[in-house]
Amino acid sequence: MAREDRSRRKNKYPPPGVDAKAPNVARVYDAMLGGKDNFAVDRQVVKAALRITSNAPAGALASRAFLRRAVRYLVGEAGIAQILDIGSGLPAQGNVHEVAHEINPAVRTVYVDNDPVVYIHGQALLADARTTEVIAADVRRPAEILDHPLIRRFLDFRQPVGLLLLAVLHHISDAEDPSGVVAALRDAMPRGSYLVVSSFRMPGPDLAEQRAEAVEMERLFNERLGSGYWRPEETIRGWFGDWEMLPPGLVPLPDWRPDEPGPVTRDSIYYGLVGGVARKN
Ligand SMILES: C[S@@+](CC[C@H](N)C(=O)[O-])C[C@H]1O[C@@H](n2cnc3c(N)ncnc32)[C@H](O)[C@@H]1O
Repeated sequence: MAREDRSRRKNKYPPPGVDAKAPNVARVYDAMLGGKDNFAVDRQVVKAALRITSNAPAGALASRAFLRRAVRYLVGEAGIAQILDIGSGLPAQGNVHEVAHEINPAVRTVYVDNDPVVYIHGQALLADARTTEVIAADVRRPAEILDHPLIRRFLDFRQPVGLLLLAVLHHISDAEDPSGVVAALRDAMPRGSYLVVSSFRMPGPDLAEQRAEAVEMERLFNERLGSGYWRPEETIRGWFGDWEMLPPGLVPLPDWRPDEPGPVTRDSIYYGLVGGVARKN
């Protein structure tokens, strides 16, 4: 048993309602990022992913790097002063509000996640009644998020909002209607708002090797985490509706306005994760 697992046991961790015997999305992602808020079962999923591709953690790292670049764009270039981050994840290096505050300390951020551990950690580490709040809610019920009293108090929906849906929609099945969910959220945003999305994308048949690995990853995620859908690019593009897609469009994450263009490994991880930013005109 790893040291952090032992010390958590001593401190009556996990809290009630948290299943330390089953892996979960937020903790596996944390483990991929080299974080400490995960259990042995979560690290086993990472090990299984590494057997499919030794580059597996690159996806989580590319996601965080995309998040930082997109938030810097929203706050620094687009002048966004309020952010709604749904499927926010466990606190990690370069949290959204921290990246935003490096540019504008007045930016208000609300983190939303349906994982109780994310909520507990977020409350402890992120919430600061003036600029940053955390709520527990499910993206599959957008009306509950939009009508949440704290969100209504904290965000002004007459002013542009930066809406982040990063690495979360690929955990929503087709039956749970991700397109309908995003459309409801888009409709509630005023003009001048921005939507940032990243999601698993199934490489096309022309990329047979990368596609085969993505299929394996999809199987692993669904078996062990209960969700994880690698979708066609057109489906993901559809989530932006009629909002204006900013250059360079919907692209593999390392290609979205890289800080320092450098070599990237064009493998199943590169082709399997895309992101983009769009504006409501
Ligand atoms: C892979 S993490 C991404 C974290 C962060 N957005 C990022 O890109 O670094 C996905 C997060 O979405 C959350 N999530 C999954 N399904 C959700 C749902 N139905 N409603 C809200 N959050 C959800 C998970 O708990 C997890 O924290």
